[in-house]
Amino acid sequence: MRTYINTLLESGEMRIVEREVDGRFELAAVTARSQRESERPILFRKVRGSALPVVSNIFGSRRRLCDLIGAKDGSFCRRWTELMRQVGQDLPGFSNLAGLADFEDLKLSDLPQITYHEKDAGPYITAGIFLAKEPETGVLNLSFHRCMYVSDAELRVRLGTSHHLTRYQAKAEGASEALEAAILLGPPPEFVLAAAAPIPYDESELGVVGRLAGAPIPMRRCRHLDLEVPAETEIVIEGRFLPNVRRPEAPFGEFLGFYVPQGNNHVFEVLGVTCRRGATYHALVCGSPEDLRLLELAFATQVYQHLHAILPGIIDVSCIPNIMNIVVKIEQQYEGHARQVLLSALGVNHDFGKSCMVVDEDVDINDLNDVYWAFLTRGRADTRVFTIPDVPGFYRDPHKDHWGRLAIDATVPFGRKDDFVRKSIPGADRLDLRDYFV
Ligand SMILES: Cc1cc2nc3c(=O)[nH]c(=O)nc-3n(C[C@H](O)[C@H](O)[C@H](O)COP(=O)(O)O)c2cc1C
Repeated sequence: MRTYINTLLESGEMRIVEREVDGRFELAAVTARSQRESERPILFRKVRGSALPVVSNIFGSRRRLCDLIGAKDGSFCRRWTELMRQVGQDLPGFSNLAGLADFEDLKLSDLPQITYHEKDAGPYITAGIFLAKEPETGVLNLSFHRCMYVSDAELRVRLGTSHHLTRYQAKAEGASEALEAAILLGPPPEFVLAAAAPIPYDESELGVVGRLAGAPIPMRRCRHLDLEVPAETEIVIEGRFLPNVRRPEAPFGEFLGFYVPQGNNHVFEVLGVTCRRGATYHALVCGSPEDLRLLELAFATQVYQHLHAILPGIIDVSCIPNIMNIVVKIEQQYEGHARQVLLSALGVNHDFGKSCMVVDEDVDINDLNDVYWAFLTRGRADTRVFTIPDVPGFYRDPHKDHWGRLAIDATVPFGRKDDFVRKSIPGADRLDLRDYFV
């Protein structure tokens, strides 16, 4: 992450806040306002009460995510799929780095204490990536889970019901044992991408990191756990999930834009915090572009891989404004093709994808205005929309507000492409307005 932050500083892309900000609301407020007008990452040099600077919105840009994996044509899904196919290149080189000379011990309360939303229960760690071992097989998993700060010895963690870490913890708990885990804050970006992505249960997510990095990644041993972590990680919190203990966690402002109510969640006993000298803390505003782009990369690639395996003409997939809506770009092959895509896409994930829209290759799938324009201009409203009633949706849905699915075919009627050629103004895309306006 440090190398990446330096690259963003050198290119001038990083926005820098020199004045001191308050970790309670002010940092999140500045980030949210900046994200309304720009995709630029932000460095806060001074956060009250902590010696560590903070970065935010590092991953809040499709372009930067594409650059990180070398997706030259702008299709994250296609490049990701190519990389994941490169079997045999797993773990290309994790080299051990025994020395801990560059690290110092901290307390949790030495880290920036950031409270994001008005009704949040307290300060939260939102960009923490859990690295843990499957209790029986030792397979390694990486995943994001929000952590509520309680004291220097305790965090409360939200483990979604279907996640791998949840299953690891349940297995350990079944044997009345604690599950050890390290929380990585600011690991190399490949770990961030692998943590967001859903990988089969029996596959190590470090394998994915290896395929993405393509170069040796130095690892170091934890101080308190039988685990190795990427040595370049800015901050590592070591600890363990206590078996058979649940305590109140939340409210917290989640990615759909609401507060999740308080519930009994997992308790993580903190055994130690180590930090590289000169470390920077990563703060991520839930539901902001940084969160939504990471969630999108995970879900859109899943949908793309599924569709690509069973149907022709799949070009790309996005999730705008968030993972509850899937947009698929296709090159139509036959009459009814778009409807088959809709049916298949809506079945990929039982939690997300409440609606799906299919468009032709000339539509910008990262712009909801353009996608909706396609629906409004390319055919009938009555026959190109259908719903699938009574299907359960998002797991946190006691009132069934997310039940049912909506499918929208926004493609040109098959065989009539020539009737729908988009008009253009020659030169409009290429000229530089600075040549015209003073
Ligand atoms: C920024 C971010 C925050 C997340 N927060 C949580 C969370 O608090 N709890 C949770 O269960 N999943 C959370 N997730 C989702 C999981 O980390 C993600 O689905 C991951 O792929 C699960 O890994 P697994 O497939 O190995 O179980 C978050 C994802 C992102 C990108």
